[in-house]
Amino acid sequence: MLTTLAIANYRSLRELIVPLGPLNVITGPNGSGKSNLYRALRLLALTARGGVITSLAREGGLQSTLWAGPERFARAVLAGAMPVQGTVRKDAVSLRLGFAGDAFGYAIDLGMPMPSNSQFSLDPVIKHECIWSGPLLRPSALLVSRQGPMIRIRGDDGEWTTLAQPVASFDSMMTEFADPRSAPEMIAVREQIRSWRFYDHFRTDALAPARQVQIGTHTPVLADDGANLAAALQTIREIGDGAALDTAVADAFPGARVEIVNHEGRFEVALRQEGLLRPLRGAELSDGTLRYLLLAAALLSPRPPALLVLDEPETSLHPDLLPSLARLIARASQHSQVLVVSHAPRLVAALEREAGSQSIVLARKLGATALADADALDVPPWKWPAR
Ligand SMILES: Nc1ncnc2c1ncn2[C@@H]1O[C@H](COP(=O)(O)OP(=O)(O)O)[C@@H](O)[C@H]1O
Ligand SMILES: [Mg+2]
Repeated sequence: MLTTLAIANYRSLRELIVPLGPLNVITGPNGSGKSNLYRALRLLALTARGGVITSLAREGGLQSTLWAGPERFARAVLAGAMPVQGTVRKDAVSLRLGFAGDAFGYAIDLGMPMPSNSQFSLDPVIKHECIWSGPLLRPSALLVSRQGPMIRIRGDDGEWTTLAQPVASFDSMMTEFADPRSAPEMIAVREQIRSWRFYDHFRTDALAPARQVQIGTHTPVLADDGANLAAALQTIREIGDGAALDTAVADAFPGARVEIVNHEGRFEVALRQEGLLRPLRGAELSDGTLRYLLLAAALLSPRPPALLVLDEPETSLHPDLLPSLARLIARASQHSQVLVVSHAPRLVAALEREAGSQSIVLARKLGATALADADALDVPPWKWPAR
């Protein structure tokens, strides 16, 4: 389980250290940085899949995703006596992401390349990455450390070995290194991060993939776009908790039951409802109903991830469905660590009543995202690796 998430210089997250529990509800007013937190975590997950630089480029490049405020605030600004003023940048550009759990911690530091005659002068580079054991980075806890192109690994005897093969500035050590004997921790951390699952804004328009008839293959994990919804629901029926699926549907739509229509191996989702003579097919379901089924399929996955992250799952759901959604989320948190970003008071209130849940309220202070009530949360200590 993750105990700490740390982000520096990513959009409005100038420096944010968040304590995490089994079920975390991230909330706060519009523009407080909830989606930025979601995106930062997704970016962190991409390091282990080799997509961090490409994803930054898709967001407009490192320059645009960097914190746009000053490196530090003058004392008079903090006291409210002076407006925020631009200062000359003294520190190097540094976007940092990290997490710590019971067993391991990981941090990555992205910056700009050294001046050279390469045309890729605006392409971010990975300056530093490291893995340590335990919740806090201490020199003695360091297990793997990457400085620029060089990776160093600490052996069982405590001696450091530098790998002969340098890594490219745009590759994470996590994707470039695959020898489980010399660095089992790296493989463990990588596999943990690769299992993280993110869902945001499923499409529910008329042409949404989830409404289409799809080849039915065993699907323990719902796709990001929900395209394999019917197969995922049938997989829950056959190898997962089918009873929980039926309960979740009946809970939200009294008297209703999901049916998977099999057109010679091609599956379509349908919902049998009270008072109707035939089940409604994928194309006929309302946006809210379809989205609820997508969320149910994601949350009842027979192969639960280590971490499940949802961004505003309440979107386009009728408020009456929110208590049922909260029950599904609470159930998922028994098998996965869960992080839900939400702006819906009813969902937040329902989740707050669940055992093991923790609310993290964000607020903007001088443009930067901060914990609204840091005193109420047990913010763990955090140390960034030095460059
Ligand atoms: N590079 C940046 N530096 C500072 N603030 C930023 C940057 N990029 C976006 N923001 C701010 O982040 C806010 C959006 O945060 P977001 O996470 O989408 O809010 P919400 O809590 O509504 O999901 C905007 O108000 C925007 O001003
Ligand atoms: Mg948002």
